Amino acid sequence: MELLLNKEEKYIFIETFGCQMNENDSERILGILKRLNYKPTDEPYKADMVILNTCSIRDKAEQKIYSALGRLKKLKTYKPDLIIGVGGCVAQQEGEKLLRRAPHLDIVFGTHNIHHLPDLISKVKLNKSRSALTEFSDFIEEESFAYTYEKDYAKNLSQRVKAFVTVMRGCDNFCSYCIVPYVRGREMSRKSNDILQEVERLAEAGIKEITLVGQNVNSYGNKEEDISFAELLRAVCRADGIERIRFITSHPKDMSEDLIELFGEEKKLCRYIHLPVQSGSNTILKRMSRGYTREDYIGKVYKLKRFYPDIGITTDIIVGFPGETQSDFLETMNLIQEMEYDNIFSFKYSPRPETKAAAFADQIAEQIKEERLAILQETQRDITMRNNQKMLGKVVDILVEGRSKTTEGAYDNTINQLMGRTSCSKIVNISGGNAYLGKIVPVRIEKISANSLMGIMVKNREERINICC
Ligand code: SAH
Ligand code: SF4
Ligand code: F3S
Repeated sequence: MELLLNKEEKYIFIETFGCQMNENDSERILGILKRLNYKPTDEPYKADMVILNTCSIRDKAEQKIYSALGRLKKLKTYKPDLIIGVGGCVAQQEGEKLLRRAPHLDIVFGTHNIHHLPDLISKVKLNKSRSALTEFSDFIEEESFAYTYEKDYAKNLSQRVKAFVTVMRGCDNFCSYCIVPYVRGREMSRKSNDILQEVERLAEAGIKEITLVGQNVNSYGNKEEDISFAELLRAVCRADGIERIRFITSHPKDMSEDLIELFGEEKKLCRYIHLPVQSGSNTILKRMSRGYTREDYIGKVYKLKRFYPDIGITTDIIVGFPGETQSDFLETMNLIQEMEYDNIFSFKYSPRPETKAAAFADQIAEQIKEERLAILQETQRDITMRNNQKMLGKVVDILVEGRSKTTEGAYDNTINQLMGRTSCSKIVNISGGNAYLGKIVPVRIEKISANSLMGIMVKNREERINICC
């Protein structure tokens, strides 16, 4: 292709919204564009192409895209040759409508169309023609996974330590509030051999931690009659060079005994699980079409905790789902206190196009949603703080991922601030040099806040108390 022969160096700025699936898709986009000589940049003003990789999970997420497009309109008046593309879930949902709404937009590509980007770019360059491609495909374009995380291509140091690996895409669950099945299509798993080859390639590129990602990883391989998710995880744990393995997201209804037991068997598997509950009320769970009860959920968490009392657990919660009474909400409050989550991701219910719940008659007033969200978040802050307090003075292993975002506290700004994570996924900031990047080091927790822990490296591993890894 003509574009491949063009050796002139160009820059791509990509802004990623939404979940881990989108983050991994952005890596695939960068990998594909690298073959067209595009280098990533963090500065939109320097870019020859800007791509917004979008999310439409809530109304607010979608609005952010329109604001970002507004800012790009101004940029294009100064840089008329700038190519602007929108991919991801809003692109899938809106398609051509986006081109009509934003005349400065050149390319719209849906969630199954990343591999068509070179053709779409070629059309803009050669014919000045704008296009939208949002067809779903019934196979996974394996070639689009082939160029992620190349050794010399990572955007920053933290991305070189850990990587996402997509194991499946789409979702068949149709929870009544959720747009994902409409914008990501039917559930489809990648072949286990392809996944394992990608993991090996990443290990060779120096990646130390892999997170297997999908909207519902527990049903991996079911349709394709490939190995189960627990078997896949076991195989990934065997990969030389990879030190830690995580996965996201688990659906409580599909979490198998095999998977629970795997935590005890595989040392590389991090003691952490994100297990979205959404609500503590059975009435609401039923209307959400979640396929489990509060009791089923609690039973699974206790099983995990019985094996590993120190396992890190986080969850997602929606407040103000249609018909949620004060007593339903109190059941959710009561559940978060019983579960003692390390953290929760909580959202006001947002009606989404095409979903069942958007048509429910008993929508909740915005003010009530806001009040409930504030109460929930305040209570969780205390729970998180209490959990963090239990770590004070303990020594834990952290994998150093990159530079710390914060320089608060007693630390000298001239000293390199690093951040890492415990196996149970708590962020710990430490002082230290770049040589520690990608290394697992023992750290004593000296100071805590609601969002992170601060520690100092210790030499003697024997001081270590096995509290979470
Ligand atoms: N596949 C994951 C969730 C993906 S979406 C799962 O099943 O758990 C991430 C989170 O966004 C969801 O867990 C839910 O809490 C939230 N969410 C999804 N749709 C929403 C909506 N319409 N309004 C508010 N929050 C929503
Ligand atoms: Fe959405 Fe439910 Fe699928 Fe998660 S399992 S992506 S919440 S439909
Ligand atoms: Fe958002 Fe799409 Fe993920 S809607 S949460 S980016 S699957």
